[in-house]
This record gives sequence, structure tokens and C-alpha cells, in this order.
Amino acid sequence: MVDLSVDVAGLRLTHPVMNASGIMGETPDGLMAIARAGVSALVTKSYTPKPREPYPMPRVVHVEYGALNAVGLANPGVEGLKGHMKLLRQLGIPIVVSVAGSLPNDFAEVASVAEEEGASAVELNLSCPHVERMGLDIGMDPRLSAEVTKAVASVIRVPVIAKLGISDNMLRTAEAVLSAGARAWRQGADTHKHGEGHESQRVHHEAGARSWHRGTLRACHTSNSSEGCL
Ligand SMILES: Cc1cc2nc3c(=O)[nH]c(=O)nc-3n(C[C@H](O)[C@H](O)[C@H](O)COP(=O)(O)O)c2cc1C
Repeated sequence: MVDLSVDVAGLRLTHPVMNASGIMGETPDGLMAIARAGVSALVTKSYTPKPREPYPMPRVVHVEYGALNAVGLANPGVEGLKGHMKLLRQLGIPIVVSVAGSLPNDFAEVASVAEEEGASAVELNLSCPHVERMGLDIGMDPRLSAEVTKAVASVIRVPVIAKLGISDNMLRTAEAVLSAGARAWRQGADTHKHGEGHESQRVHHEAGARSWHRGTLRACHTSNSSEGCL
């Protein structure tokens, strides 16, 4: 049999295929189904310190080139994370817990609980484009992203992975988080819409997007038609 094993951020994985945070990740059942599909490590939905309700419907809209979504980082908070981890630990594969927040301490709090509950790594959500003062609002700013990374890396021993979205500062943020203690960064195709001709729009198109949603202040979509937001 071919050996597909890889080292990712210090995790030894049997092969390089993991899921993206959040998709089918709202319930342990959804995550179990993803695990059964054969991922080498399971990435959870993002957890914040306190529970968050989803945005009003519609949260996902199908459009010509794929789908747009804005779920709103709905999650059951750290107490929910504890319950979910009890089930997920039984899967016997590395669990990467995605964490989100507005302040460095928010991220550090959730990351600490994740480690205590058996996470093999923590992924920082610096990519979500549709929640103010979270996700990409932080990820667009290398200094804030470094502060968040440092706060988390200083309180946990498991690897920290920064998940970035697309912004004008993408590479500067990547350098900043690696210098601040992240073991790896992963790139999501999530991005804000800022207006016609904005640099991030150009980058987005260069990344392979076939179309652009023009209807709202904040919109995004991905090049592989998996998602977007508004
Ligand atoms: C319904 C839905 C929920 C999502 N929830 C999260 C989340 O909780 N945390 C996160 O980091 N990303 C979340 N994402 C974003 C995905 O992880 C991924 O970054 C996005 O779909 C872009 O994928 P691509 O980079 O493969 O194009 C979500 C996406 C969708 C469609």
C-alpha cells in the first residue's frame, strides 16, 4: 500500500485529507459522518467562549456559480465544546478544534478548554468574513492576528494552526502568525467584499473565482463553489 502519511504542524497524519471547519460541523452527528468518510484528522466548527445564535434565514443561497452563506459562527460555546469533545474523542483520530473570538483572551480561553478536552491541535479562525470584529476582521490585520496567536500559543502545548482568509494583507498576516507561534497556516478562500476595484476583489478573482456577488456590503464566495457569505 502507498504510504500517504504526512506531518502537518507537528501532527502525524495517515494521509493529507482533512475537512474544512464548519461544513456539516454543527452537530457531533455531522462530524461523525465526516470522520466515517475517512478524514485523517477532524476539524470542528469554530467555538467561541459563549454560545452564538445563527443569523436569521436564509443562511445559504444557491447562485449560478455555487452557494453563498452566512451562518454567523453559531455554536454552543465552551460548555457545548466540552460535550462534543466527549463524543469526538472516541473516534480515535486527531481532533483539531477551531476557535473564534474577538479578543486574544477569547481565543486563549477556548483553546485552553479544547486542549484540556483532548484536542490534538487548535485552529484559529481568522478567516470568517461575515461576523464583525471576528474572523477576517482580525485576519486582515497582521498585528492583531499576531496578538491572538501569541495569546493562544502561550497557554497551550498542542500545535496552533492559523486559518486565514483572503485579504490584501494575507502574506503579511501569514508571516506574523508564524512568528507569533503558529506551527502552520491554512488558507481559506473566504474574503470580504469592499467595493468595486478594491485590491481584495482583484486578488479574489486571481484566485480563480468565476463571478462576484454584487448585492451586499459584505459578500464572499469561493473558487471551488463550496461557499460564500453575505
Ligand atoms: C455552512 C458553512 C459553515 C462554516 N463554518 C465555519 C466555521 O465555523 N469556522 C471556519 O473557520 N470556517 C467555516 N466555514 C468556512 C469553511 O471552513 C471554508 O473556509 C470555506 O468554505 C472556504 O473553503 P475553500 O477554502 O475550500 O474554498 C464554513 C463554511 C460553510 C459553507
